[in-house]
Amino acid sequence: SDAGDGGSDGGSGSDLISVGFSQVGAESGWRSANTMSIKDTLTEENGFELSFSDAQQKQENQISAIRNYIAQGMDVIAFSPVVETGWDAVLEEAKGAGIPVVLTDRAVETTVDDAYVSFIGSDFIEEGARAGEWAAEQYDGEGYKVVELQGTTGSAPAIDRQEGFAGAIEGTDLEMIDSQTGDFTRDGGKKVMEGFLTAHDDIDLVFAHNDDMGLGAIEAIEAAGLKPGEDIKIITIDGVKDGMTALADGKINYIVECNPLLGPDLAEVIEKTVAGDAVDARIVTQDEAFDQEGAKAALPDRQY
Ligand code: AHR
Repeated sequence: SDAGDGGSDGGSGSDLISVGFSQVGAESGWRSANTMSIKDTLTEENGFELSFSDAQQKQENQISAIRNYIAQGMDVIAFSPVVETGWDAVLEEAKGAGIPVVLTDRAVETTVDDAYVSFIGSDFIEEGARAGEWAAEQYDGEGYKVVELQGTTGSAPAIDRQEGFAGAIEGTDLEMIDSQTGDFTRDGGKKVMEGFLTAHDDIDLVFAHNDDMGLGAIEAIEAAGLKPGEDIKIITIDGVKDGMTALADGKINYIVECNPLLGPDLAEVIEKTVAGDAVDARIVTQDEAFDQEGAKAALPDRQY
């Protein structure tokens, strides 16, 4: 590459920009779409040599992947941090090696100055707030009992969506009666919902931090002989095809989109960084929201 790194190019001997990307895992439909977008964009044809690793939702795997990328002298390192904290040491190491870091999808909390050049992704507090505002608009005055399926403990989307939703239903008569993590997986959502249904016989509404957990909750609700979307209302976040299908079928009531197609913005930030051009420190992805009619209209064009 010609990134001013003295000719080191991650060992490829070519003009491609070498990028090491550490992905969270493959926990959800959203994540698969996100991975596809990154792999489809950071191609050789587009001028990149991508090394991609899947951390299986484990921070220690991400840290060792990032250390490998540093050792290999990648031009740029990008990652989607599974949890918010615990990155200071490895971010310091990347900085010491002079390798720019780009965050995608999830934020970190760090004391390291100028730890990354840009953070590309949705505003998760806003997503939670939009979900809560819709719930309040539809159901305030009904005395609804609400349960929450949280994402991965300590992850930015779990922390922020919980905060946004709670803020939006404050002052209404919607009451949060239980909240537990389902780790953003379908299986996790199903198991936690089974527990909720055993512990509470008065659940009116589920707020799931992603579609997959909402889809797991649907299975648990149906197994309990109840109708999802009617006996128990469901609001989720993401808007992947399976979620949108359940919404169009009346089993989910509302979905706030989280756009997973971050590849193009990531490619642009990397190219600019390597060229020495300024990049925006924060790039906020634009998200829509869908009710059941909206899902029917959007489904035919849904790519993922
Ligand atoms: O960080 C984004 C979240 O991670 C998505 O909403 C969820 O589906 C994924 O696992």
